[in-house]
Amino acid sequence: MVCLGNICRSPLAEGILQHKVSEAGMNWIIDSAGTNGYHVGEAPHHLSQKVGRMHGIDISQLRARKFVAEDFERYDKIYAMAEDVIDDMRQIARNKFDDRKVELIMNEVFPGQNIDVPDPWYGPEPGYHHVYNMLDEACEKIIEHAKTKTQKTI
Ligand code: 4NP
Repeated sequence: MVCLGNICRSPLAEGILQHKVSEAGMNWIIDSAGTNGYHVGEAPHHLSQKVGRMHGIDISQLRARKFVAEDFERYDKIYAMAEDVIDDMRQIARNKFDDRKVELIMNEVFPGQNIDVPDPWYGPEPGYHHVYNMLDEACEKIIEHAKTKTQKTI
């Protein structure tokens, strides 16, 4: 899960997907990172923590890190919160950038529509609830699609 700061959107996405994966009894490794590195080492924004907590998801232990080119070697799938994040990822990863692994997260819900998860950083609390709802829906679809794929390969 990748956003700009790794303190608002992507830690919430990590927490939500981790929660759903655990509930589904799956053993995926979930992680998140940010492309700008301004907040490396910081805990998630207090409003992301609050919104997560309201849904039983504790992200307080997560710490921001910067996205690195090697993430393309470590992970099978990389979800970006927005198109500007993909541009940054391309700059950082250079020849390691792999288009087949990258998807805008909201395309899981609205395929091909390229909808961004809005950056709540500059705004008040309702923006964080909106982001939570978008990410919850997207993560639900990620699990649903993975289950359908598994069934097809059995
Ligand atoms: P995020 O939000 O990408 O959802 O973590 C942001 C947090 C901080 C900044 C930008 C976006 N910043 O520029 O400091």
